[in-house]
Amino acid sequence: MTISPPRASLLPLPLDHEAAPPRLHVITWGCQMNVYDSARMADVMAVAGFARADAPADADLVILNTCHIRDRAAEKVFSELGRLRLVQQARAAAGQRMMIAVAGCVAQAEGAELRARAPWVDIVLGPQTYHRLPDMVARARAGEHVIETDFPPEDKFDFLPEAAAPQTAGGLTAFLTIQEGCDKFCSFCVVPYTRGAETSRPAAAVLAEARRLVASGAREITLLGQNVNAWHGTAPDGATWGMGRLVRELAELPGLKRIRYTTSHPRDMDDDLISAHRDVPALMPFLHLPVQSGADRILAAMNRKHTAADYLRLVDKLRAARPDLALSSDFIVGHPGETDADFADTMALIRDVGFAQAFSFKYSARPGTPAAGRGEQVDSDVGDARLQELQALLRDQQAAFNRACQGLTLNVLFTGPGRQPGQIGGRSPYLQPVHLVGDAGLIGTEVPVTITAASPTSMTGTIEKERACA
Ligand code: 5AD
Ligand code: SF4
Repeated sequence: MTISPPRASLLPLPLDHEAAPPRLHVITWGCQMNVYDSARMADVMAVAGFARADAPADADLVILNTCHIRDRAAEKVFSELGRLRLVQQARAAAGQRMMIAVAGCVAQAEGAELRARAPWVDIVLGPQTYHRLPDMVARARAGEHVIETDFPPEDKFDFLPEAAAPQTAGGLTAFLTIQEGCDKFCSFCVVPYTRGAETSRPAAAVLAEARRLVASGAREITLLGQNVNAWHGTAPDGATWGMGRLVRELAELPGLKRIRYTTSHPRDMDDDLISAHRDVPALMPFLHLPVQSGADRILAAMNRKHTAADYLRLVDKLRAARPDLALSSDFIVGHPGETDADFADTMALIRDVGFAQAFSFKYSARPGTPAAGRGEQVDSDVGDARLQELQALLRDQQAAFNRACQGLTLNVLFTGPGRQPGQIGGRSPYLQPVHLVGDAGLIGTEVPVTITAASPTSMTGTIEKERACA
């Protein structure tokens, strides 16, 4: 990876006081990709001399990394910006400047409009330009109102410093973005507009970042992408690899115990990736595979390009490869045109599959997306009622899945303290939280645990002393 250090003349030197380094506070909303992006923006600003601030009041630069996927996203941003403005004014009264940058998908979607409504914002930057942040900060400091929401010709990953450290759970679990953007254009979704066309990082860059993450302590890596399983990267030998091959290569890294990936599209689930679920023990038996609806009419209206039967066939194939695979999904109720019969089809698909967990949402019209302009919008109360019914079923399935784990011995990667004093906490292979009274020295290790009790959302158990995890 080529790393261009920021030009010295553009480095944002201390803003208010010459001695102390300037400080950065990042507020992150939305998906894991935003968590990853925030960490990388912090990395790039660390190279430019910025230390971390725990609160906006202590920060010379606040970045609000936003999400546009559902529900009044822009209003939420403006109310947060209202709060930040008060902090900015308080700091100004004390002779300290606080710059505000708005990043992420709302920044991409609103662009100049955002600054017009909130003139106290210094920088508006889209998800593809954050490698240029030090330069933007220097320009803003000189009085420019910076708006960078174009998709630049260069690849930001070529200009970012190496990821500093794994992002979550005491450094033991890490996110690694391998793919960005989406070409699928589901009727309801803003992602193809805010994140742009589908791109994959080269295999060598992904492997190098994974090696660094493992060297700095990561035991689990979650590969990220809006359509992560559409990833196809150029390999060092010039061949093109798919996700299955990438997973097999990652599994060879000494010290890396667990691999996960999210979010997948059913249409990109190829046979090689399915067989990786059979062949690669480090690939965890948990898959988030959004279906959105169980009604063919609605799947067609959503432009998903698969039917309910296609999804069920795919689930069968996956379970044939890995019989204990736990499935998760996303559902939308109340998409334009959804009838009671369509909703019943979605409930039937859920009963058919049996999900270990899932996310479900009431359809929210996103300006500029095809579904937003359609007639046949579903009455809001009908959407609420359907969502409640669907979530009750999903909750029951999650509780049943956890209950079925009682008596089993599962490997748990302990990543930190548990919920109660004296407890340690971690995750099962199926991503269930597990908390138990245990030695803090086990944090960072994967240990067999016999599950003795399960609640709908977490489990507890006893550590098997005789067996060690492979
Ligand atoms: N309304 C409701 N839910 C949505 N999602 C995406 N766009 C919308 C929308 N306009 C959901 C989908 C997607 C998840 C990340 O968010 O289920 O998979
Ligand atoms: Fe959005 Fe569909 Fe692309 Fe997923 S596949 S990011 S839902 S357009």
